Amino acid sequence: MFSLQKFRSYLSTKVFGHNIVFYKETGSTNDQAREFARKGKPEGFLVLSDRQTSGKGRFSRTWYSPEKTGLYCSLILRPPIPLSKISPLTILAGVAVLKTIQNETSLTPLLKWPNDLLINGKKVCGILIESAPKKNNVEFAILGIGININNNEGQFPDDLSTSSTSLKIETGKDINREKFLSSLMFYLEKNYVGCLNEDNKGTLQFWREHNDTVGKKVTVNQGKRLITGLAKDIDESGKLLIQLDNGNMEKVSSGELE
Ligand code: BTN
Repeated sequence: MFSLQKFRSYLSTKVFGHNIVFYKETGSTNDQAREFARKGKPEGFLVLSDRQTSGKGRFSRTWYSPEKTGLYCSLILRPPIPLSKISPLTILAGVAVLKTIQNETSLTPLLKWPNDLLINGKKVCGILIESAPKKNNVEFAILGIGININNNEGQFPDDLSTSSTSLKIETGKDINREKFLSSLMFYLEKNYVGCLNEDNKGTLQFWREHNDTVGKKVTVNQGKRLITGLAKDIDESGKLLIQLDNGNMEKVSSGELE
């Protein structure tokens, strides 16, 4: 079982993660966090569960969330920014997870735009940001992160076995989840404060140096539209710049990369 006491003993943030609620089991930590945010819980409030019965992924997928192996958490953010400027959150969250993995293991995953983390081509982390708009601003955003930590080989269901991995599978070692989560809070808070101070350059540069997308021929599936071309870069807000086959450049803010 995850120990809150151990987690608190490692925590070195100013705000993120100090206020925390822990469930042995819940449907989705994002849904719980949204309810807490609606009731006025502050920025940095963290919801954590040892297991999710209906963990949510992007594009209405489910997130496999077996007990005691992964980290399933959702953080309330209240960024004082217009809704149109929310994209950098996606990039900064992926970079924070990557730095945590580097810090806590010997691994260096790659980022797949916008913020999936892959090790040897297999997914180890997924990030789901849900925001509640208020006029043109953000009332709050829920930053949901799921990381496969101590899953063993052969423990993923068949449909995930070839596409997913865990930190334990890749390192051969059990990872201290309490220390990992406290480190994640540290990097998230650092990147977030930087982002609010419009000091995003380091985070963007880090993303550029650790991505698996730029330079590749990609298709972004936006449901009603497929955008195909060569991924050239991300811009300062985290949008993907794609050179279309006709030579035109297109900036893409959302969609699934294929
Ligand atoms: C994805 O890659 O599709 C995003 C997956 C996000 C999963 C996390 S687990 C914690 C939080 N609660 C949820 O229901 N989803 C996110």
